[in-house]
Amino acid sequence: MMRNLSFLIFFIAINYATAFNKKEGCPKNLILCNDVCVKSCSLDKNGQINSSNEKVCPGTDRVTSNNIDSYRGCNIINGSITISYYDGKKNSVNPKILNIFNSVRIINGYLKIEGPNKLMQNLTAFKNLEIIGGDELCDDSYSFVLNETSLTSIALTSLKQISAGDIYIKSNEYLCYAHDISWNNITKSPSQYFFIENNNEKSNCLLSLNVCDNQCSSNGCWSSGPDQCLSCKKFNNDGTCVRECPPFAKYNSTTNTVEQFSNGKYTYKHECLSKCPEKTWVINTTCVDFCPFPKHKGTNECLPEPVIFTKNLITKITNEK
Ligand SMILES: *[C@@H]1O[C@H](CO)[C@@H](O)[C@H](O)[C@H]1NC(C)=O
Ligand SMILES: *[C@@H]1O[C@H](CO)[C@@H](O)[C@H](O)[C@H]1NC(C)=O
Ligand SMILES: *[C@@H]1O[C@H](CO)[C@@H](O)[C@H](O)[C@H]1NC(C)=O
Ligand SMILES: *[C@@H]1O[C@H](CO)[C@@H](O)[C@H](O)[C@H]1NC(C)=O
Ligand SMILES: *[C@@H]1O[C@H](CO)[C@@H](O)[C@H](O)[C@H]1NC(C)=O
Ligand SMILES: *[C@@H]1O[C@H](CO)[C@@H](O)[C@H](O)[C@H]1NC(C)=O
Ligand SMILES: *[C@@H]1O[C@H](CO)[C@@H](O)[C@H](O)[C@H]1NC(C)=O
Repeated sequence: MMRNLSFLIFFIAINYATAFNKKEGCPKNLILCNDVCVKSCSLDKNGQINSSNEKVCPGTDRVTSNNIDSYRGCNIINGSITISYYDGKKNSVNPKILNIFNSVRIINGYLKIEGPNKLMQNLTAFKNLEIIGGDELCDDSYSFVLNETSLTSIALTSLKQISAGDIYIKSNEYLCYAHDISWNNITKSPSQYFFIENNNEKSNCLLSLNVCDNQCSSNGCWSSGPDQCLSCKKFNNDGTCVRECPPFAKYNSTTNTVEQFSNGKYTYKHECLSKCPEKTWVINTTCVDFCPFPKHKGTNECLPEPVIFTKNLITKITNEK
């Protein structure tokens, strides 16, 4: 009974933390505005986001060689995108020119990739895609579909949120990674389901070295390499997970000297930073929110000694009395 109760409290605490995290969960440099993450927030009289500083483009039920050029420079797709390589479809877009989608940050509807094409091994064309809104769904259910593709990895390194709709990743013969991604970190609501089935076998993935870098946390990764992690085991240095941040100085045993480096970085929580954030203090090369006792806060640094009332100070106080 006691055990059940403490488990329940633990469970509620976890859920609260996740819900809070997601509400606050806009990617860096973006703010939450009317439930969407945007660069700057102003609403028109219908409550729609004013995104006049970004190029908004309509969606399409099929990207073809004829319409692909109209997506050059688009930041927000107000609609959905489908890329299909099923046999018999004419004007299929060459995967090599899909990087026209590089500027896309938000897809308000769904993103669907279907059918095999050996030239399309990952979705790096959408490497700047941060949000799939899911305000329009495929088959009334899905906001992200990878169906019978030739993808080996997903590589959507900027994707921070799938705001609504289910995830459907099925029958992608060569696809690794998808099963191990912590989709809970990307979806917004616990009612969003993941249908992830019948992709590449884990044993094949291991053999072909299609596995997460060992600096990735257990949240999984988008592809191999330390720049493809959902989050880092140790430190995030500009999008790449590292075991330690670049040092300011290092002992060189060949020359027997300490070498100084101008590109050293401070560690703060799980990040490497060139400058400590405001309201933090430096101790060694770490930024801390509190200076550990008996050290105390200087202007920017934790000072090594506790505050000492020197003779002079005491005298001064005495004199003033
Ligand atoms: C949208 O914002 C821009 C400036 O960011 C402003 O010039 C424009 O008038 C706004 N449009 C509407 C409809 O509010
Ligand atoms: C997006 O599309 C909706 C209709 O689906 C429309 O009401 C809205 O004005 C569009 N927004 C922009 C910025 O184009
Ligand atoms: C994506 O695929 C291309 C080949 O199509 C490859 O060169 C590149 O390394 C892949 N990127 C990732 C992150 O897997
Ligand atoms: C995936 O492909 C199969 C076979 O072509 C089809 O039956 C199914 O409806 C597709 N699913 C989605 C979500 O498009
Ligand atoms: C990802 O989710 C797990 C549990 O669902 C949570 O512990 C972790 O803090 C989340 N990580 C990020 C980066 O949101
Ligand atoms: C040590 O210094 C030598 C001479 O400057 C240099 O060639 C070498 O790369 C340095 N070793 C390390 C580990 O930085
Ligand atoms: C700072 O460096 C000193 C000496 O190298 C070490 O004893 C101490 O644990 C370090 N403190 C932190 C917070 O890293």
